[in-house]
Amino acid sequence: MPDASAVIGVVGAGAMGAGIAQVAAAHGHVVVLADAQSAALARARAGHEKAMAREVEKQRLTREAADALLARITYVDGVSDDALSAFAPCAMVIEAIVERLDVKQELFRALERVLAPDAILASNTSSLSIAALAGACAHKQRVVGVHFFNPAPVMPLVEIIPAITTAPAVTDRARALADSWRKTTVLAADTPGFIVNRVARPFYGESLRLLEEGVADCATIDWALRTVGGFRMGPFELMDFIGHDVNFAVTRSVFDGMFHDPRYRPSLRQQRLLEAGWLGRKSGRGFYDYANGASAPVPTEDPVLAQQIVDRVLAMLVNEAVEAVHLGICSVDDVELAMTTGVNYPRGLLTWGDEIGSANVLARLQSLQYETGDDRYRPSVRLRRVVQAGASLRDPRRYS
Ligand code: NAI
Repeated sequence: MPDASAVIGVVGAGAMGAGIAQVAAAHGHVVVLADAQSAALARARAGHEKAMAREVEKQRLTREAADALLARITYVDGVSDDALSAFAPCAMVIEAIVERLDVKQELFRALERVLAPDAILASNTSSLSIAALAGACAHKQRVVGVHFFNPAPVMPLVEIIPAITTAPAVTDRARALADSWRKTTVLAADTPGFIVNRVARPFYGESLRLLEEGVADCATIDWALRTVGGFRMGPFELMDFIGHDVNFAVTRSVFDGMFHDPRYRPSLRQQRLLEAGWLGRKSGRGFYDYANGASAPVPTEDPVLAQQIVDRVLAMLVNEAVEAVHLGICSVDDVELAMTTGVNYPRGLLTWGDEIGSANVLARLQSLQYETGDDRYRPSVRLRRVVQAGASLRDPRRYS
């Protein structure tokens, strides 16, 4: 059982690092938080103070408890060897710095010079290989992926990603720590996008495809997936919210990481938005226009069209979840948990697939593959076998 006396280090005090530091401090840990930029560190400290003021105001914490939490965080300016010596007592250091392999490898090498040999080196990377991070380290067995979702204090899911080099005890310790922070943890294989960022790709990709084929416009597809699908946001409003720079980069990295498997093919339409600087809400324009006075496009509220849209996107999502289980990326239970807690899907995709009928999902994919000749619609072997066996998609047995 992990104990709250373990000192936790966090490097990178941006959106994710500041949130992760807050989570660890909230569970009683002394936390060391560093950033290469003083301004980022100052923003993180101000953010923590504001968050604590809100906790006190909402009477979720006493002022004393909030002050004690803040006092447990030490802010370290810079990442020179001297500055990093503050991490010497840490049992685990989580990096949440810029998403660049060479920069993260350099940081891990520097941390290894100051950490105890059994301290864990964890990465919050969204898209890089954990094995590639471990490859740069002297003690490769201590490197593990610990992937939080944004905002870390609010989102319950943490994906735990052991690399081929990771010692099982390190995976267990990292998971036990996140569990002790009352996170929902799932185990994911060290493959592009891990669970959530891989399985969620068709929500964007297939919706973009429907738009490109002229099946419906953005407003109609969004409306269909919200009202008939039950998703909290439609794909186009969600992409505008996330930012096309970030969303396209994730798609691109999964596509490249999968050696250009057509299932994950990015969309030219989205690339053009990015090139034009129409990044979404943050730039005032994406698929939608956020300028003051701009009128919102009106969806075509046709229930037959809506069902057609939802069926196609869902068939792709269910297939992706089934394939993730088939390839051992995650367990049946973990793919259900990951999609409902990481991206708030209204139902687990395997459960949903059973409700629609796995044979219907298979038939839809086969007809799309036949009509388009596009391999992006190829059904997972596991889907075929589960249908043949008349079993549930949630059947945990291997169908290999
Ligand atoms: P961010 O840009 O908000 O923060 C990154 C911070 O790292 C900045 O404050 C920067 O000054 C600092 N930094 C850069 N290089 C550094 C170095 N060598 N040493 C120390 N500090 C350094 O980025 P964000 O969004 O917090 O992402 C951080 C990591 O978390 C990335 O690996 C990203 O892929 C991952 N991630 C991001 C999520 C998100 O929704 N933003 C979700 C889950 C993971």
